[in-house]
Amino acid sequence: MQTPSATKQLGDEHRRVWPLLDDLASIVDSLRSGSADEGSVRRCAEAVRKIEDELDIHLLREEKILFPPLEAFLPRDSGPLAVMLAEHDDLRRDEAKMKELLAAGPGSSAAQLREVALRFVGVLKAHIQKEDNILFPMAEMHLSASDKERIARELPEFTQVG
Ligand SMILES: [Fe+2]
Repeated sequence: MQTPSATKQLGDEHRRVWPLLDDLASIVDSLRSGSADEGSVRRCAEAVRKIEDELDIHLLREEKILFPPLEAFLPRDSGPLAVMLAEHDDLRRDEAKMKELLAAGPGSSAAQLREVALRFVGVLKAHIQKEDNILFPMAEMHLSASDKERIARELPEFTQVG
C-alpha cells in the first residue's frame, strides 16, 4: 500500500486527538464547583495521559520533519509557522500545568485545573483547524514532490519522544 501523504498522516493524528479533547472538556466541566472528588480527578488524569500519548509525538513530528522544509518559503520568526511554533509551546506549558495540578491531588485546585484544561482544549482545537486549513494546504502547494515523498516516509519512522 502506498504511504499516505504527510498532511494526510498529520491530519489523521489531529482527528485522533479531537475526540479526546471533547472527553477532557466534559470531565473538567464537572469541576465547576471548585472542588473535585477522587473519581473525577482520576478520569481527568486518564484523559490528559491519552492526549499526551497522541500529542507529544505529533508536535515533534511536525517540528522536526514537516516544519524545517517549510522554512524555505515561510519565515520561522513571523507568520503562520511562527504562530504554530508559539502555540506548540503554549500547549506544552498547559499540558505540564495540568499534570502538575493533577499530581497535587483531588480538590487541591479544581477550579484552576478546569480553567487550564478548557484553555488547552480551545487552543488545541483552533490550532488543529489552522494547520488543517491554512498550513497544510500551503505545504501541499509549495513543497516539491520529492520533499513531500521524503516527509511522508520520515513521519512514521519518527516515534521517539525525548
Ligand atoms: Fe498538528
